Amino acid sequence: MPHFEKIIIVDIRSIKVSLFDQFPFTQTMEVRTRVAISGETILVAMQKSPINSLHFNTVSGCVLVLLILIFNSASVAAWETPITRKFDFTVQPLSLTRICNTKSIISMNGMFPGPTLYANEGDRILVNVTNRGQYNISIHWHGIRQILSAWADGPAYITQCPIQTGQSYMYNFTITKQSGTLFWHAHETWLRGTVYGAIVIYPQKSYPFTFSNEEHVILLGEWWKANVEDVETSALQNGTGPAIADAYTINGLPGPLYNCSSTDTYLLKVKPKRTYLLRIVNAALNSELFFTVAKHTLTVVEIDGDYTKPFNTTTILLTPGQSTNVLINSDQPIGRYYMGASPYMSAVNVPFQTVPTLAIFEYDTAPASTPPTMPTFPRSNDTNSTTQFVGSLRSLNDPQHLETIPQTVDKNLFFTVGLGLKPCDANRTCQGPNGKNFTASVNNISLILPHIALLQSYYFNISNVFTRDFPDKTLNPFAYTSNPPNNLTPIQGTKLDVIPFNSNVQIVLQDTSLVGAENHPIHLHGFSFYIVGQGFGDFNAGSANFNLVDPPRRNTIGVPVGGWAAIRFKADNPGVWYMHCHLEIHTTWGLAMAFIVQNGVGSNQTLPPPPPDLPRC
Ligand code: C2O
Repeated sequence: MPHFEKIIIVDIRSIKVSLFDQFPFTQTMEVRTRVAISGETILVAMQKSPINSLHFNTVSGCVLVLLILIFNSASVAAWETPITRKFDFTVQPLSLTRICNTKSIISMNGMFPGPTLYANEGDRILVNVTNRGQYNISIHWHGIRQILSAWADGPAYITQCPIQTGQSYMYNFTITKQSGTLFWHAHETWLRGTVYGAIVIYPQKSYPFTFSNEEHVILLGEWWKANVEDVETSALQNGTGPAIADAYTINGLPGPLYNCSSTDTYLLKVKPKRTYLLRIVNAALNSELFFTVAKHTLTVVEIDGDYTKPFNTTTILLTPGQSTNVLINSDQPIGRYYMGASPYMSAVNVPFQTVPTLAIFEYDTAPASTPPTMPTFPRSNDTNSTTQFVGSLRSLNDPQHLETIPQTVDKNLFFTVGLGLKPCDANRTCQGPNGKNFTASVNNISLILPHIALLQSYYFNISNVFTRDFPDKTLNPFAYTSNPPNNLTPIQGTKLDVIPFNSNVQIVLQDTSLVGAENHPIHLHGFSFYIVGQGFGDFNAGSANFNLVDPPRRNTIGVPVGGWAAIRFKADNPGVWYMHCHLEIHTTWGLAMAFIVQNGVGSNQTLPPPPPDLPRC
């Protein structure tokens, strides 16, 4: 009997039932999966039927899980029948050592990365978040549509005031007509640097692809030796860009290319000749990342929770806020292969971490002494690879998975997105270009967050919090990418753009090279949108080529560096919805705005009142 660190009693109904659909209990087999209640990756050794105990091994350390089998047809039916799932999330400090340095981070449930939230499409989710950390916090369910539940969306000062230390808030939402891989993260200051985890939603319909029913979550992140909150504070104090991350991470582990880190390497064991589903999320704060596995082909099947026409590639690109599901065949010679993430940096003269993070993709019969094969990463400024990759994305849009792409537009918006400079306050020194402060804006308006949440102010008609005059088109057109003026200082404001219920909205997002062109990952809360067009240079309605047949659908679009992207969505969800650059430093600088989507008619088009425990400011 090995030594076990802890024993967990699990109701088998809390384990993803699909596992048991596919694996009869009559044989001995091993399956790697995750248990929703602990979120830890475990090795499940299934034994002969009937099973009354299962032994689980964690990758690091041992955990014994005794399964009390309550396995009957009702639990199988959980695959089909939506249920209410309740989770307890406690924000709490955790001491961790990475790259020769120990620090205290803010964690969720003492785990890093935080627990994976597993659910079925249609489930109602209740997450009671209790804040036992020293910072105010809120949690955002990135990519969840939040139909009629804007109060549960989470961005601090947009839909709620943050949860203060010692307080709790129950997030309550239903996962309506969406599935796939998304993630949750803190949405107040830079806390999402360590407070994040995956969301896995199993579809009601069968997958439009086949795999061996084995899947793994791959969370890409960034790690600083310093306290991430301090990295933000000092960037704001200096007026300059933030300190670069000391490492990138895969499932919280930097891998062997950094100091003292070779044992902090994520290991994914595979069996030969199988097809695995990798659910990859870029949870990094400030870095767009390429992801690749040495010698293996990736088949892209899903992005941001929407199916794609499958295509093969060696490398994928994810901006912060994006997720991608790929199939990978373990069809190479038995061995060990590195998989990893390396930066895509589209801006010039911006410092960044250049060392990739690596994890090991290991065939289970390969000797552990085999040196893993290195992958080839694209160059960090390889915009061609990026363009080729995003240009290959198409929504599946087949009869079983129909898309409804708005063919007409009711509200046509043109927003510039980019960086700017603002004067240094008197009695300070600023280290940005020309002794100024960096800032960032949408339509030359740099968002100032209010002191009470916008949704509350809107719902309860609290005045003097925001104005409704966000311009539909930039007020001062210029040659955005070729010859921008050098004296354009953004105005600061809290302006919202009002959209009538059910409008078909088109937004052309235009990058500017005012301070420097850059790929901006623009994320919209409350909706997924179709990317109907994109290109380089200044948008020209006459020559732009739109795809209204099978455009990819996402919640985060990397607007091409020195270019533009056009997105469309139907504004069928009332609330206040944040739209911002998912490079955290750009949000901090004000590259953000919010929409009011008005109520329609009747209770199923009207935002209900807030729950009684909505945090107070
Ligand atoms: Cu994932 Cu407003 O963000």
